[in-house]
Amino acid sequence: MTDTISTDRIDPFAPWRLGSLELRNRFIKAATFEGHCPGGLPDREGLGQFHEAFAAGGIGLCTVSYGSIEPGGRTFDDQMCLQDDILDDLKAITERIHRHGAKAAIQLAHCGSSSKWSGWIGRRARGPSNGFNSLGTFVGTPFARALKKQELTELTQQYRSAAERAKAAGFDAVELHMGHGYLLSQFLSPAVNKRKDEYGGSAENRARFPVEVLQAVRQGIGDHMPIIVKMNLRDGFRGGVEIEDSIATAKLLEASGADALVLSGGFSSKNAMYLFRGPTFVEELIKVQRRKIDKLVYRMARPVLKSQPFEELYFLELAKQLRKEVSLPLICVGGVQSLASVHRALTEGYQAVQLGRALIHDPALVRHYQEGSKTESGCTVCNLCVAEMDRDGVRCVLNDALPARKRID
Ligand SMILES: Cc1cc2nc3c(=O)[nH]c(=O)nc-3n(C[C@H](O)[C@H](O)[C@H](O)COP(=O)(O)O)c2cc1C
Repeated sequence: MTDTISTDRIDPFAPWRLGSLELRNRFIKAATFEGHCPGGLPDREGLGQFHEAFAAGGIGLCTVSYGSIEPGGRTFDDQMCLQDDILDDLKAITERIHRHGAKAAIQLAHCGSSSKWSGWIGRRARGPSNGFNSLGTFVGTPFARALKKQELTELTQQYRSAAERAKAAGFDAVELHMGHGYLLSQFLSPAVNKRKDEYGGSAENRARFPVEVLQAVRQGIGDHMPIIVKMNLRDGFRGGVEIEDSIATAKLLEASGADALVLSGGFSSKNAMYLFRGPTFVEELIKVQRRKIDKLVYRMARPVLKSQPFEELYFLELAKQLRKEVSLPLICVGGVQSLASVHRALTEGYQAVQLGRALIHDPALVRHYQEGSKTESGCTVCNLCVAEMDRDGVRCVLNDALPARKRID
């Protein structure tokens, strides 16, 4: 590794090697759930068009989200479940990304104990420990139960199978979601993981299941397909993961073969705006729900979705602490809204940047930066794109740069 802690100026537009994968530049489309999987099945055209826009717009690596590793790993019914029956759809999508010279990644995820998936109705969602499932409170699944060891082994294999399917579908990399209060992040978090066995307690024990998942995925896809891990620097609330914990986790992930870390923060079920920052989107989310019960769910979620002050590169200071402790590539996410921020991130210790909202606003932003026609993204960080996932699919409310979702009713 040559450039991990370099303070030399890095050219963001020059090719970059992520593990054994050559990317045309250091810009990565962040995983942003798209809202193009009605009923859990990818809309080949809509999802393909969505991602093709970023590939044509100059991104180096485009991340498809959210690929649940099993049906019960979905937060809600309209999330993709990565099973054999959708491989042809996914192949069509990776082909559309590759056509423009970009590479394709997919985020592998499981929501753990935080779910309003209809399959859990009358049952209990599963997480590290027994507890409440606030998202499921009004839709028939208010409780979560602790996963048994045998189930952890099964889930590990499901992560591996999902990664193998991703490879078969033409993806060039996978991103393991270990952040934002999803299953693996629930294991990492001392606030939620109350286990008394070897999967709970110390930071090392809490990282045991996530590390086992990483190792199984590596075995499944081999050494030549990068594994990116998205993880929290801090959960962002008292009792959650703090920087000392995330440093311990990062070291274990590095030793276990992760190719890069995306450094984020926040917990969807407790303080979701910590990961986004800026104004809340909860009122818009309530407005777009079609079922009264869903409106109620999000009304109850108002305290979780309280606005938080936004600044560019809002995880930078925490990331700099972690940078000193590991040498694998670090990817910046969170408020990369200008070319100046891209350069700053790359000189402060990150090796690449992920863009979410900035690209939703302008899918061709990388090309515009490169051509010099823009130096700022133009995104106002209004966060209303998030609520669009439940209306017409994720898109910027200021323009029509991304496709609207196909209606199935
Ligand atoms: C509409 C939308 C959907 C998102 N969905 C996901 C997701 O499925 N998985 C994930 O890890 N992060 C998700 N995020 C968070 C982003 O990946 C990213 O961490 C966050 O938006 C901060 O980056 P940004 O400032 O470049 O937008 C989503 C963000 C947005 C705006």
